Amino acid sequence: MKVLKAFALVAALCGAVTAQARSLEDIQKSGTIILASEGQYAPFNFFKGKQLTGYEIDVAEVVAKKMGLKFEWKTVGFDALLTGLAQDRWDLVIASHAITEERAKAVTFTLPHYCSGGQIVSMTPSIAKAGDLASKTVAVQTGTTYLEHVKKVPGVKDVKNFPTDEAARNALASKRVDAWVTDRFVAKEMLAKNAKAGFKPGDMLFIEQVASAVSKGNQGLADAWNKALKAAIADGSIAAISQKYFQEDVTCK
Ligand code: ARG
Repeated sequence: MKVLKAFALVAALCGAVTAQARSLEDIQKSGTIILASEGQYAPFNFFKGKQLTGYEIDVAEVVAKKMGLKFEWKTVGFDALLTGLAQDRWDLVIASHAITEERAKAVTFTLPHYCSGGQIVSMTPSIAKAGDLASKTVAVQTGTTYLEHVKKVPGVKDVKNFPTDEAARNALASKRVDAWVTDRFVAKEMLAKNAKAGFKPGDMLFIEQVASAVSKGNQGLADAWNKALKAAIADGSIAAISQKYFQEDVTCK
């Protein structure tokens, strides 16, 4: 009896730490998929007033509808998104995460919904290439692939981390850093909207495929998502969303 009680206690404690992700069947039964994003990464995911919007938000809503599901959004800091999956706080994260080996140890990625890469942005044409970053200070958002890649550029003096990509950009605008590395489409839109701000686009440092993530091993959900995403690409819905936000097709060719 005592042994059984002890066992039950251990099981309960473990359960509290490693919550079970909802399977596709559980989600279908409830009728609603819980989606999570950051909401501070225009034009991929951002707030227009109180409304969460952006390329990835529209893509996710189209995919969820194709799966026959309603959706509910949660927004948290970029840092907390993937750990929230492991805690079963939401079913799927869509927040511009590139597929990396490191992340794939902790989560299961779906098919990519866009292909892009990290680009250098500075305030002077003399800082445009990877080599120009030598002895320079570079701003990036914490936890991103930009951080990992900039760290590897030889000779970089310092990589400064910011909680949001916008804060990293502001550090460049106020010349607290020499360069900012961000997504090429984030840079494209920001340069178009702030033509007079003095930002100078530089080279792309690397390319990446960006996908949604589900809890590690939640393959049934990933498969259903992939099937619906493929259908949404095939019927032109994703291309239309892409045109709306980027005036070009950002899906992977
Ligand atoms: N693509 C980059 C990465 O994989 C940046 C993602 C940033 N996303 C965001 N919602 N701020 O790390």
